[in-house]
Amino acid sequence: MGPMTASEEKIQRYYDNLWSVGKKFNQKFIDGGFHFGYYEKGVINYRQAIQNMNKYISGLLELGTGHALDILEAGCGIGATSRYLAKQYPECHFTGISLGTEEIELAKKLQKDQNLKNMQFISGNYNNTGFKNNSFDRSFALESIVYAVNKKDVINEISRILKPSGKVVIIDGFFPKNQPSSSFLKSAYSIMLSKRSIPSVISVQEIQSYLTSAGFTDIIIHDLSKNISKHYFFGGFFVSLRGLVSAEVKRLKNKVKGKINEDTDKIIGGAGFMEMLLGITKNLGYYAIVATKR
Ligand SMILES: C[S@@+](CC[C@H](N)C(=O)[O-])C[C@H]1O[C@@H](n2cnc3c(N)ncnc32)[C@H](O)[C@@H]1O
Repeated sequence: MGPMTASEEKIQRYYDNLWSVGKKFNQKFIDGGFHFGYYEKGVINYRQAIQNMNKYISGLLELGTGHALDILEAGCGIGATSRYLAKQYPECHFTGISLGTEEIELAKKLQKDQNLKNMQFISGNYNNTGFKNNSFDRSFALESIVYAVNKKDVINEISRILKPSGKVVIIDGFFPKNQPSSSFLKSAYSIMLSKRSIPSVISVQEIQSYLTSAGFTDIIIHDLSKNISKHYFFGGFFVSLRGLVSAEVKRLKNKVKGKINEDTDKIIGGAGFMEMLLGITKNLGYYAIVATKR
């Protein structure tokens, strides 16, 4: 991997920290991935919703059956979505790239444990992957583009490594219109984003214009804000409340023992609560964007 920016180093530290304690992490994230749940009819709980997001992506990628396609997951984390897809499409080959070293180590271990041969995981930067031009038939990024300081660079890199007529699927949070103008919302967002080590959020229009200038066409935008809104409730409120309480209990216990420790509750607890509040204000949307390289 080439030199990293200060922001990328912060993201790497954040995810290394998360997944080094995350080896004891809640099993639903290990199985389904570290992303929002996709709620629709028949999906009744948090665990199912997280896995249903992987199923939803599978539909958007149009992998078909019997086609030996090469697929890149940009910002794969522990690789749960790629593992899900690799099992459904054994004839396809999946490559996951992610900034964190701990998450990639866990992805490789889970791949080995599950004996999946049609995939590989690489610790690296999606801005500068080192893959040859026209290497992949499909690429997808689930809640990872938001971490790029320069989102335009990632789109250009994905365009470079996709084959002509290749498709990209981006699922992430975007502002539905312009950036929020109220100073209260601006500061609420900046607290939430910095807790998650996210440098910035852009609008749907901005990502659309980056895709167009990178040579993508047939851009389709699906608004999933309603599908993930229950996640704010189940994931935001309950997880946060439980997270904040248990983090505080652990902090006090450790204080008594004179120890300092980092744990997942402490890392994600507060951010979930902020996200729930911001989700209710409906200023931040959640979208799936599909585009085809010319
Ligand atoms: C919210 S997690 C989502 C992970 C995965 N897509 C999932 O659903 O479980 C965001 C991921 O983006 C990755 N990421 C952030 N910046 C990156 C970069 N510059 N290059 C590659 N991956 C990056 C992080 O390492 C992290 O794994």
